[in-house]
Amino acid sequence: MRAAYYTRRGPAREVLTIGELPNPEPGPGEVRVRLATSGVNPSDWKSRSGLTTSAPLPGPVIPHSDGAGVIDAVGPGVPAARIGERVWIWNGQWQRPFGTAAQYIALPSAQAMPLPAHIGFAEAACLGIPALTALQAVRLARIDEQASVLIHGGAGAVAQYAIQFARLRGVRVISTVSSDEKAERARAAGAHATVNYRTESLADRVADFTSGRGVDAVIDLNFSANAASLPGIVRSHGRVVVYGTNDAEALIPALWLMRSSVSILPFLVYELAAEDRRAVLSELGSALEVQSISHNVARVMPLEAIAEAHDLVQQGGVTGNVVLAID
Ligand SMILES: NC(=O)c1ccc[n+]([C@@H]2O[C@H](COP(=O)([O-])OP(=O)(O)OC[C@H]3O[C@@H](n4cnc5c(N)ncnc54)[C@H](OP(=O)(O)O)[C@@H]3O)[C@@H](O)[C@H]2O)c1
Repeated sequence: MRAAYYTRRGPAREVLTIGELPNPEPGPGEVRVRLATSGVNPSDWKSRSGLTTSAPLPGPVIPHSDGAGVIDAVGPGVPAARIGERVWIWNGQWQRPFGTAAQYIALPSAQAMPLPAHIGFAEAACLGIPALTALQAVRLARIDEQASVLIHGGAGAVAQYAIQFARLRGVRVISTVSSDEKAERARAAGAHATVNYRTESLADRVADFTSGRGVDAVIDLNFSANAASLPGIVRSHGRVVVYGTNDAEALIPALWLMRSSVSILPFLVYELAAEDRRAVLSELGSALEVQSISHNVARVMPLEAIAEAHDLVQQGGVTGNVVLAID
């Protein structure tokens, strides 16, 4: 099969190769998916470059956990009826060397989720990481009708879904952005208000938005940059859900957090507990069926442009998801 892969960590254009690798065969409990698309996420360039891990590679690594396609073979124990099913994939390259940047992937049947006919393969390649992360963040925030939430970086791939899931729960959303164009994106996803965090006072704008009370929850994608701003933004006993940080360490307002009984809840979407995994898959599945969320595909590029796609995601040069078309 044609695949993109790397055998050492480093810059995208130096280490990513397109070539032929053997077709995978589905083992017991597995399906093989003929992939139509592969989604690129920040964690893909971070692990490829060596930023987040320097663990030795087991051999060639086909990157990307997200993708979509059609099941074309099943292993022992999987009903043959799954053959021909349109699916989207989660954790395709989590603790496994062969991800979705290839014509085929073989993986546990439970990681290939049914894809409703009305959702395209490009959109389906945004679900495994961005949509599931957003949904888990909103669940952890424990917000429902009448609550308010600050969602940082409202034009980001994950945040665009988080705004929508918060709105589906009837929550009031204020979101940080860095430009008018990004403010428009955040509002289009459903944010009631936006704050340009580079030019405006976040504390003042949150105070206006909540009549001085502070938001009930914060959903943060860059904790090392934003932790210092928490006092005056989140109310006592509020929750701060963290799914991203640009630096490995963050300076936190520890005394204020303790006095305010504010909880900090970091999580990794690859490592959801089984109960949480079931809950997010079920809720996302229902949202997909009734089309209550929209998707934000910014660019579709050929598999051969994988190095350019990684660089685009790394540089933050696109607003929305970058997806590779396999065939
Ligand atoms: N924990 C997990 O399981 C998990 C899952 C998915 C993603 N992540 C991580 O979450 C982060 C976001 O992922 P993504 O796919 O949504 O990325 P993305 O599409 O590139 O979006 C990131 C957005 O954040 C904005 N931003 C950056 N710094 C900010 C700050 N200090 N305050 C507010 N906004 C800020 C960026 O715009 P400006 O720079 O213009 O403000 C951009 O719009 C990445 O670090 C990623 O690795 C973690």
